[in-house]
Amino acid sequence: MIDKINLLKSEINGLSAANEAEVEALRVKYLSKKGEISLLFNDFRTVPADQKKAIGQALNDLKNFATERINSLRDALASVDSGLDGIDLTRTPAPIKLGSRHPLSIVREEIISIFRRLGFNIAEGPEIEDDWHVFESLNFAADHPARDMQDTFFIQRSPDVLLRTHTSSVQTRVMENSRPPIRIICPGRVYRNEAISARAHCFFHQVEALYIDKNVSFADLRQTLLYFAREMFGPDTKIRLRPSYFPFTEPSAEMDISCDLCGGKGCSFCKGTGWVEILGCGMVDPNVLEACGIDSKVYSGFALGMGIERITNLKYRVKDLRMFSENDVRFLEEFIDA
Ligand code: DAH
Repeated sequence: MIDKINLLKSEINGLSAANEAEVEALRVKYLSKKGEISLLFNDFRTVPADQKKAIGQALNDLKNFATERINSLRDALASVDSGLDGIDLTRTPAPIKLGSRHPLSIVREEIISIFRRLGFNIAEGPEIEDDWHVFESLNFAADHPARDMQDTFFIQRSPDVLLRTHTSSVQTRVMENSRPPIRIICPGRVYRNEAISARAHCFFHQVEALYIDKNVSFADLRQTLLYFAREMFGPDTKIRLRPSYFPFTEPSAEMDISCDLCGGKGCSFCKGTGWVEILGCGMVDPNVLEACGIDSKVYSGFALGMGIERITNLKYRVKDLRMFSENDVRFLEEFIDA
């Protein structure tokens, strides 16, 4: 019996296995109910009483030895498979570098959330447009210079297919397809055929707002603008409206805010005036309402449009417009906490 035990022990010591299945086969062979070690335990009954103690001890040792050996074969396989040898899974991992939101997205979201608080909903339209939505419906005369090749990227001529030069085209799309009251905010990318420089780009971003209802007045426009300016640039911000001209609004105005760099005293940023221009606005021209099927005797409204790059420059003092589209991570990382 003792010889059998020693033989099995050295056999088990020399075992090897290439995969889980082989380890399992070895476990069955030696340790299962009908395995070789169990058979030895069955023979234990025939051992003379004076040898029972020593052989019992040796049998138990053999069983423990076989169990450990087979477990260690299994463990060795597991660590080879996972490739985790030498890797401490309990260690704190190195921090993962998170990306940051693009400054234009940050500012766009901020503008949208201010207008949302006033009950405006987002509306979007296509970047590839036709002449009607970008110019004709918005009261641009046939010979208006903005239609010129100088300004507009045409994809096709007659019928004209072009890249929208402003988000005012979304006004038309919404007015054509819904009835007042209309209160929308339209963020989007626009294109103009301009030489790229620090101050101009062939594409940039705008946000358009439109409010149409009964009895909408210039006072509503002014109050909306004041609310927006103070939410965006701080509660001490002042606004002023200068008369201007846009084909689709009458009267039209441009809005300036007090220069927050010098507090309105005048500096190089505001060219000594104490004011910086931020957007165009006005009362929607009755011709535009009629072109979109809205009765201008019943309804009136205001519209405004601003460049997101311009607002972003005011907030973050980005000097070169090209930075916004170069995807330089050193620039983008500056906005991680913004
Ligand atoms: N569409 C004008 C532009 O691109 C901006 C603008 C001015 C929009 C006045 C308006 C507005 O809605 O009322 O320069």
